[in-house]
This record gives sequence, C-alpha cells and structure tokens, in this order.
Amino acid sequence: MIVGIIGSGGREHAICYKIKKSTLTTKIFCIPGNAGTSNIAENVNIKVNDFKSIKNFCLNNKIELLIVGPEQPLVDGIVDYFDNTNIKIFGPNKLSSKLEGSKIFTKKICDKYNIPTAKFKIFKNINESKKFLNEAQFPLVVKADGLAAGKGVYICKNYSDGITAAEEIFGGKFGNAENLLVEEFLLGEEMSYFVICDGKNYKFIGSAQDHKRVGEGDTGKNTGGMGCYSPSRLLSPELSEKINKKIVEPTLKAIKDLGNRYIGFLYVGLMIKDKNPFLVEFNVRMGDPECQTILPLLENDLTKLFLNCCLGKLKEEEVKLNNKRSICIVLCSKGYPDKYDQNILIDGLSNLNLKENEYIFHAGTKLENDQILSNGGRVLNFVSLSDDLKTSREELINLIARLNWGNGFFRKDIGYKVID
Ligand code: AMP
Ligand code: GLY
Repeated sequence: MIVGIIGSGGREHAICYKIKKSTLTTKIFCIPGNAGTSNIAENVNIKVNDFKSIKNFCLNNKIELLIVGPEQPLVDGIVDYFDNTNIKIFGPNKLSSKLEGSKIFTKKICDKYNIPTAKFKIFKNINESKKFLNEAQFPLVVKADGLAAGKGVYICKNYSDGITAAEEIFGGKFGNAENLLVEEFLLGEEMSYFVICDGKNYKFIGSAQDHKRVGEGDTGKNTGGMGCYSPSRLLSPELSEKINKKIVEPTLKAIKDLGNRYIGFLYVGLMIKDKNPFLVEFNVRMGDPECQTILPLLENDLTKLFLNCCLGKLKEEEVKLNNKRSICIVLCSKGYPDKYDQNILIDGLSNLNLKENEYIFHAGTKLENDQILSNGGRVLNFVSLSDDLKTSREELINLIARLNWGNGFFRKDIGYKVID
C-alpha cells in the first residue's frame, strides 16, 4: 500500500518510522517532510495548505492512504476536500475539527453534554469584555477563539493582564476576532490523554505529560512542547474510566448528533483536580512531542490501525502499548520560541550510535547538498524507552552532549515531577 503523510515535524517523522515497519506499506511519501523523513520516505515539496496540488499528487502517485499530521489542514477541511476520491484519509473532517479550531464550539458542546470544564463566558467586543473584567475575581484565563499555534491563551493574575489580553485579541493579534472567551482558572496538574477513533468506536492510545514552558521548572514562555514523558503519573484505571465516560464519549456523541463521524486521533488536554478530570482543550491530531514519545511504545501495525479506522473497523484491533516508560527531550534552536537562526549545520548525527530503544526524530531540519541544516525552532527529538525514566533521561542528555550542536539548547528536567 502506498501511504502519504502530511506534515514536517517530529510527529510526522515518528509516524513515518512506524508506518515503514508495517508489512502493508510499500512506499511512503511525506508532504513536505524533513531531513529525517527523507531517509524513509520520499519527501514531496508541496505546502500543507495547497489542497489542490496535494490531491493531484496523491491521485497521480496512487496514494491509497493519506494521514494528516497537523491541525491547520484539518481545520481548513482537507478531509472534506478528498470526499469524492477513493483515497482513505485519516483525520477528522472540517466540522469535527472545530473541536480544536473553535474553543467556543467546544465550550458549547461541554455545556450541552455536561462535560466537566472550566466555567466560561463569551464576549463579542472589547467594551463588554472590559465591563466584565472590571468586576471579576482573578486569576482568570482569557482566550482567543480560533487556532493560535499554542498562543492566544493568557493566564491573567489581575485586571491589567486581562485588559492587555482582551486588547491584543480584539486588536487582531491572532487574526480577526469576533469573540473572546474568559474562563475560570483551574488549579491542578495537566495530563494529555489520547484516543483513536473510527467514526463509531474509539480506543485509548496513550497518555503523556508535556512540558510546554521554555525554561526549567516550567518557567518562561509557552512553546509547542519542550519534551514529555509517557505514561502520565496521574493515570489510573479509575481516572481513565472518568475521562472516557464524562469527556470522550459525550464529545463523540455530540459530533454524531451533528450528523458527523469522528475519524482520527483525539487529543484530550486535561487538568486533573482531586482525581477528577476537567477538559482544558481538544486537539484533533496527535500531540507533538507526545506522538514521538508514545508511538515507540505502540506494538500495533500502524498502517493497519489507520486503515481500520478509515474503514470503521477499529473494533477488530486491540491497541497494545508496551509496559515501558518513554521520555522525549526536544533539542531547540537557541532563541526559540522568539527569534532564532536557521540553516545552521547539524554535523555528526550519523556518528551517534543509538542503543536499542533509543530514537532520534527530526522536526525542524532539512537536507541540502547532503547536509542536515536546522529549519525551525524545535529541531530534533531524542526519545528513550526503558523501565527507568531517570536513567533514560541521563542517557539522552549524554547523547545530546555527544552531538554537541552549537546552536542548540534543551531542558534537562523533563519529567521532573516523576523523576526528581
Ligand atoms: P490551551 O491552548 O487552551 O490548551 O491553553 C494552553 C495552556 O494554558 C494549557 O495547557 C494550560 O496550561 C493553560 N490553561 C488553559 N486554560 C486554563 C484554565 N482554565 N485554567 C488553568 N490553566 C489553563
Ligand atoms: N505538545 C502540545 C501539542 O501538541 O499541542
């Protein structure tokens, strides 16, 4: 089977790696891919928002299964764009993708289906927002409605923070804003919970705790994710049951009630408070770096799993996760998440001898004249599986030290809540 993957991050390299192991896979195209995917797939230089060229390429190259990695093409409706073809496409359609694309869409579902989440109010203009903030109790969370690439969420300690957030959002910092969301601040510990869905059934496919802040001890600016470990220390069968019954199942029912089927990964971002789950956000894709952390634990044939989801046959699959623990450290370009240099040579990757259960997944890299150059803020993902996260973390730190990439930095404390 000829498989296509859309995206160019660490998530997509990890998916490529697993797809390649399947006996069903005969060839992989990665659109557009990175230096890592070019070793196992043929990279195709088409932009992820150019649906027309992607469709033509898939048809001309007989791609039978297409996997969509990132959220933007999903929210923009790439799945619907393939409706009149025979190509099986793994990912939710445009309406279902509003679970990530519109926080207000999701909050309204939470309201209607009694899904536990932070209390919220919606405002349509700056004056209404100011009036509310003037009388409100802080801390509060102010959010832009649409996709904002991990930004657009302000934790506000006081009125002045709230006003700044409202002015920036209505000022268009995250695109044209018709609405703003003000939420109760939830105190607890975060956890990411993943399920895979076939339009009828869903199955658990891992949990993780991500470190989103750039600095050690979870300080500084928000990033796409500096590293994570899996499974989350918070997960228990009782908590899983609550998440499934109170959050996942009512959400999938809501999508069904809207006349849709949810196919794809559903990333459930949670705050756990006194052993109870509260929904913080949904993402309609796998997390990055959670995907790189979880997929090496997965024992299933991933091509078959994706295919069965597209065919509504997930029931036939038992999703099997290895008992080991996994940790991922992200090596970033100095300056990230602000300004950083690009096109910096990464030398010596091929000299790093990886042990069994160690992986390097590329993110912001590209291949030019046989050389690997940096091409983004998050550059490489170092992953290790073992029974002991502390030893794994030390080995990854040694591996990064051996690479000795002058333009890189990383957090040495990934997983500190379980390790230290
Ligand atoms: P989101 O993009 O909605 O996931 O928000 C980004 C981050 O902001 C989350 O991962 C949380 O750390 C934090 N956050 C969002 N909403 C809340 C909330 N209601 N209470 C506390 N923290 C929140
Ligand atoms: N690591 C967070 C995300 O993928 O949204």
